[in-house]
Amino acid sequence: MPSFSLALVLLVYLVSPTSSCTEQEKSSLLQLLTGLSRDGGLTASWRHDTDCCTWEGITCNQDRKVTDLLLASRGLEGPISPFLGNLTGLLRLNLSRNSLSSGLPLELVSSSSILVLDVSFNRLTGGLGELPSSTPVRPLQVLNISSNLFTGRFPSTTWEAMKSLVVLNASSNRFTGQMPTKPCVSAPSFAVLELSFNQLSGNIPPGLSNCSALKLLGAGYNNLSGTLPYELFKVTSLEHLSLPNNRLEGALDGISKLTNLVTLDLGGNELNGSIPESIGDLKRLEELHLEHNSMSGELPTALSNCTNLVTIDLKANQFSGELTKVNFASLSNLKKLDLLSNNFTGTVPESIYSCSKLTALRLSYNPFHGQLSEEIGNLKSLSFLSLANNSLTNIRRTLQILSSSRSLTTLYLGFNFQHETMPEDVSIDSFKNLQVLYINHCSLSGKIPDWLSKLPNLGMLFMQGNKLTGPIPEWISSLHFLFSLDISNNSLTGEIPSALTEMPMLESESTAPKVFFELPVWNKNQFMEYLTPSAFPKELNLAMNNFTGMIPEEIGRLQGLFSLNLSSNRLSGEIPEQICNLTNLQMLDLSGNHLTGKIPAALNNLHFLSRFNISNNDLEGTIPNAGQFSTFPDSSFGGNPKLCGPMVANHCGSAVASSVSIDPIKQIGSEAIIFMTAFGVFFVVGVLYDQKVLARHFG
Ligand SMILES: *[C@@H]1O[C@H](CO)[C@@H](O)[C@H](O)[C@H]1NC(C)=O
Ligand SMILES: *[C@@H]1O[C@H](CO)[C@@H](O)[C@H](O)[C@H]1NC(C)=O
Ligand SMILES: *[C@@H]1O[C@H](CO)[C@@H](O)[C@H](O)[C@H]1NC(C)=O
Ligand SMILES: *[C@@H]1O[C@H](CO)[C@@H](O)[C@H](O)[C@H]1NC(C)=O
Ligand SMILES: *[C@@H]1O[C@H](CO)[C@@H](O)[C@H](O)[C@H]1NC(C)=O
Ligand SMILES: *[C@@H]1O[C@H](CO)[C@@H](O)[C@H](O)[C@H]1NC(C)=O
Ligand SMILES: *[C@@H]1O[C@H](CO)[C@@H](O)[C@H](O)[C@H]1NC(C)=O
Ligand SMILES: *[C@@H]1O[C@H](CO)[C@@H](O)[C@H](O)[C@H]1NC(C)=O
Ligand SMILES: *[C@@H]1O[C@H](CO)[C@@H](O)[C@H](O)[C@H]1NC(C)=O
Ligand SMILES: *[C@@H]1O[C@H](CO)[C@@H](O)[C@H](O)[C@H]1NC(C)=O
Ligand SMILES: *[C@@H]1O[C@H](CO)[C@@H](O)[C@H](O)[C@H]1NC(C)=O
Ligand SMILES: *[C@@H]1O[C@H](CO)[C@@H](O)[C@H](O)[C@H]1NC(C)=O
Repeated sequence: MPSFSLALVLLVYLVSPTSSCTEQEKSSLLQLLTGLSRDGGLTASWRHDTDCCTWEGITCNQDRKVTDLLLASRGLEGPISPFLGNLTGLLRLNLSRNSLSSGLPLELVSSSSILVLDVSFNRLTGGLGELPSSTPVRPLQVLNISSNLFTGRFPSTTWEAMKSLVVLNASSNRFTGQMPTKPCVSAPSFAVLELSFNQLSGNIPPGLSNCSALKLLGAGYNNLSGTLPYELFKVTSLEHLSLPNNRLEGALDGISKLTNLVTLDLGGNELNGSIPESIGDLKRLEELHLEHNSMSGELPTALSNCTNLVTIDLKANQFSGELTKVNFASLSNLKKLDLLSNNFTGTVPESIYSCSKLTALRLSYNPFHGQLSEEIGNLKSLSFLSLANNSLTNIRRTLQILSSSRSLTTLYLGFNFQHETMPEDVSIDSFKNLQVLYINHCSLSGKIPDWLSKLPNLGMLFMQGNKLTGPIPEWISSLHFLFSLDISNNSLTGEIPSALTEMPMLESESTAPKVFFELPVWNKNQFMEYLTPSAFPKELNLAMNNFTGMIPEEIGRLQGLFSLNLSSNRLSGEIPEQICNLTNLQMLDLSGNHLTGKIPAALNNLHFLSRFNISNNDLEGTIPNAGQFSTFPDSSFGGNPKLCGPMVANHCGSAVASSVSIDPIKQIGSEAIIFMTAFGVFFVVGVLYDQKVLARHFG
């Protein structure tokens, strides 16, 4: 009896239609496979003679219906088959991070079963498509179509059928037109609308006020305009409001109604007015980004009440007044404070030095004044400090105070301490972790100080625009990580020391160890923002000094160099041939010296050279006219009376008479080249002709 029932069960199981996935589901899946131009090896597992519930990436339920199709990061290429819409039990479809192309079949968006659809990071094109207005309610909850190539406007009727939608992520596409005007009218649980990095324009729709469950609204990096509508301030569920880099204008009044805000990012817009006193109501606020706007006025006292703040970024506005109104001491979670380029006055408020978690403090380009307080030593985690152009005085004391900051990696002190003297006796045991040091444009007198040789991790040193005298010290090559040195525009003297040609980082092409700036740094030469020092180019800038002697041949060892500027000195002798070994060079400026002799022809080997200047020297001979050289402007060569070539007034033939030191062999040489070229052309044409003739006769 028991064995009979077991057999019966077995029999029922074997003949039951639910014992395997249905032929129809199998064939829908195989439709996807056969449509792909690359299947990432799926064919091995997706075999027609096996149960599709056992195939890779597929999960079935007890009824042997396919519920999950998870094929993220499989290297799939080709279109997504609309036949997947026939999998009536499918709940989750994840095709993220493949190379799928063509459109997103509407059958999937409007599927009567799919809850989660993730096709992000593909190359899908076309629009989202309207659903027929008769479409019955659909269960889709999560739609991630971000990082594709979708275009066109957002359809309106899609939303009406999507009563269950919770998340729509359409960031990083090419959508145009307005934001969806009423995304929540039919979806009461709608919580995440992410539209950043598209080409949306128009206003922020008032219809958002119906989104009573919306937690995240992201539409940064679009072309949105107008003011923040007051209807937006009714969406009190909002926790993350992120609309940076649009063209939004007007004031922030009303923002304090969004008392659940954790992130407020409105940077890079055209907002004006001041930060309202009511900002203190945003008790949960952690991230405040209002940088690059036109905001003004004083910072309100109530900012001290936002005690959860981690980041305050107000750079590039016109905020003014003294900072003493704000009690920074109550912002004990603050890690980053960026006030770059505003109009704050007075002294740096002492209460900042109570923010013991602070890692980055940028106060530069504000008319503060006075001396740095010793209390800054309390900021034990401070890694990035920028005080450039703050009208500070007493560099000796400033360096002495900062030298004990063990965490400091990046220090900007430029445009301060005018006409003081570079201190020579900063404590030996200092700045152990300093990687980036700017003491530029301070008109400091004195020498390049020896204490710099004790900074074992220094990678970038900028001391241009001072009045430093004396030679480049020999210890320079002991700075093993130094890859960018700018001491231009000083009064330094002596020869270019051989030590400078032995700098380990400049000799090698390896990049500096990768660390990140706590705040992004703008480099005006490259017109770029940098997140890490290692992204800065390897550079040597000795311009505008009084260096004498020859350019050492050993300069050819600095294979890593990207930019070499020796201009406006009193260097003499020839341009060493070895300079042609610097094959990574993109910028070479030797102008304004007393260099003589010919331009080394091998400079043509510098294929990356895009800026080149040898003007105002005593160079002679022919300007190479091939390769890179044909791309440089005439001004690169001017002010060398004995140079000849098509770029300068002296044309080589006619200049012979007036030029004293024309090399006759060179003349013959260039004629010989013309001859050889003509011969070469003749030769090649001849050979081709011969082959054609031969082919006609024998082919
Ligand atoms: C499956 O889907 C395709 C495309 O959506 C449709 O043309 C076809 O009729 C469907 N097949 C079945 C058996 O439902
Ligand atoms: C889809 O898969 C990727 C990769 O495994 C994962 O990161 C992503 O979270 C998944 N999407 C959803 C909606 O779960
Ligand atoms: C797509 O978005 C959903 C919802 O935000 C998320 O769960 C999923 O991880 C995202 N997919 C990827 C690949 O990031
Ligand atoms: C949107 O998707 C992208 C992946 O393309 C992901 O990085 C991001 O976190 C998602 N945003 C939200 C709010 O889910
Ligand atoms: C949407 O919100 C407005 C007020 O902001 C209200 O008058 C309207 O009834 C709401 N519509 C729906 C469908 O909830
Ligand atoms: C942004 O929108 C304005 C009109 O509002 C238009 O003139 C401008 O060309 C748009 N900019 C971009 C980059 O699309
Ligand atoms: C802000 O800009 C608007 C125009 O966008 C202007 O009407 C208003 O006067 C400005 N307010 C302030 C305080 O500058
Ligand atoms: C800051 O918060 C305290 C206590 O919650 C309150 O008494 C005070 O009025 C608030 N200050 C401002 C300026 O909002
Ligand atoms: C900076 O503030 C001062 C007053 O403190 C004012 O006179 C000056 O015009 C302001 N500068 C700018 C650029 O706003
Ligand atoms: C320093 O800042 C002041 C304003 O605070 C500005 O006028 C001046 O141009 C700045 N100096 C430099 C060199 O940028
Ligand atoms: C270089 O030295 C000369 C003569 O000693 C002096 O006149 C000139 O000002 C110096 N130039 C610089 C930039 O220091
Ligand atoms: C320059 O390169 C050539 C060949 O590439 C090599 O023979 C020569 O030694 C190099 N000179 C220097 C100074 O590195």
